[in-house]
Amino acid sequence: MRILSGIQPSGKLHIGNYFGMMRPAFELAQKGEAFYFIADYHALTSVRDAVELRQNVLDVALDFLACGLDPTKTVFYRQSDVPQVTELSWILSCLTPLPMLENCVSYKDKIAQGLTPNAGLFTYPVLQAADILIVQSNVVPVGKDQKQHIEVTRDIASAFNREFGEVFTIPESSIREAVAVMPGTDGRKMSKSYGNTVEIFGDEKVAKKKVMGIVTDCQPMEAPKTDLDKNIALQLLRAIAPDKASEQEAKLAVGGYGYGELKKMLLATLMDYFAPMRQKRAELVKNMDYVEQVLRDGAVRANAVANVMMEKVRKAVGLR
Ligand code: ADP
Ligand code: TRP
Repeated sequence: MRILSGIQPSGKLHIGNYFGMMRPAFELAQKGEAFYFIADYHALTSVRDAVELRQNVLDVALDFLACGLDPTKTVFYRQSDVPQVTELSWILSCLTPLPMLENCVSYKDKIAQGLTPNAGLFTYPVLQAADILIVQSNVVPVGKDQKQHIEVTRDIASAFNREFGEVFTIPESSIREAVAVMPGTDGRKMSKSYGNTVEIFGDEKVAKKKVMGIVTDCQPMEAPKTDLDKNIALQLLRAIAPDKASEQEAKLAVGGYGYGELKKMLLATLMDYFAPMRQKRAELVKNMDYVEQVLRDGAVRANAVANVMMEKVRKAVGLR
C-alpha cells in the first residue's frame, strides 16, 4: 500500500494540522510505503515572498521531523524537487471539466477570504491530483476540508483511465472522523486563514492566551454544565487525551467547576504532549545540514518513482 499526503508551507503548524493530518499520517506510515511532501508549488498560489517561502519550507521540514517523521521509512520531499508533477498537472488539466473545478469549495472559500482568483488557485486541485497519481498512492490521509480534492483526483484518474487505458491507481482519502474538523478558538474550523489557531511550536505565552481565550457559553460556575458537546476546549482535549476529557466532562456536569479550570487543564495537556517535539525541534534547528540532506534524499527517491510513472503517462497519451 502506498500512502501520500502534503502540506502547504504557508504558515505555522497548528494543532488542527497535527491531529487532523499529521498524526494519522504517521500512524498510516507504519502500514505501507509513505510519501509525505511539502507543497511549495501550491503555496505559490498565496505566498509572494521568496525569502518567506524558502523559510516556510524549512519550517515545515523541521515540524515534520520534530513531530516524528522517520525519513528512513518515509520518502519525505519538497514538491518542487519533483517538477514532473507540473507536467502531469498539465496533461490532467486537459481532461478536467471546468465545472468540476468551479464546484470546489476550497477555491470559493479562498476567494471569499480575499485571495486574488489567479489561475493557479483555480487549478490547484489538478496539481494536487498530479501529486497523488504520480506516486500511485492508494490512500491519502487528510482533514475533512480536503475530501473534495481527493474526489476530484478520483474523477480525473478515472477519466484518464477510460480514455487512455488503465494507467492510474484510484486513491481513497483517509479521514479520522473524531478529528476531521478540529475547532479553532472561535469555534470555526481551526485554520491559519481565520487567525483562530493554537500553534505547536510558537511562543508558550501566546498559546496560553489563545487557549484561555477559547469562546465558551455563559453558564455560571456553580451550574451543572449541559450541552458539553459544543464546548470547544473539551473537543480539543478529547483529541489529545480522551481519558482526561471524560474526567473533565464529569466534573463539569456535576457543577461548581468552571471552564477556566478546563482550559488550564487543556493548556497543561497540550504543553506536556508537545514538549518532546518542541525539544527535538530546538535540536534539529542547530543541524539544518541534516534537514537539507533529508530533503535531498527524499527528492532522489521521489524522482525515481515519478520518472517511471511519467514514462507510462507520456506513452499512453502519445507524447514521444
Ligand atoms: P489551514 O486550513 O490552516 O491553512 P492546511 O490547508 O495547510 O491548513 O491543511 C493542512 C492539512 O491539515 C490538511 O490535510 C488539512 O485537511 C488538515 N487540517 C487543517 N486544519 C484542520 C482542522 N481544523 N481539523 C482537521 N484537519 C485540519
Ligand atoms: N491541498 C493540501 C492542503 O491545503 C495540500 C496538498 C497538496 C495535498 N497536494 C496534496 C494533500 C496531495 C494531500 C495530497 O492541505
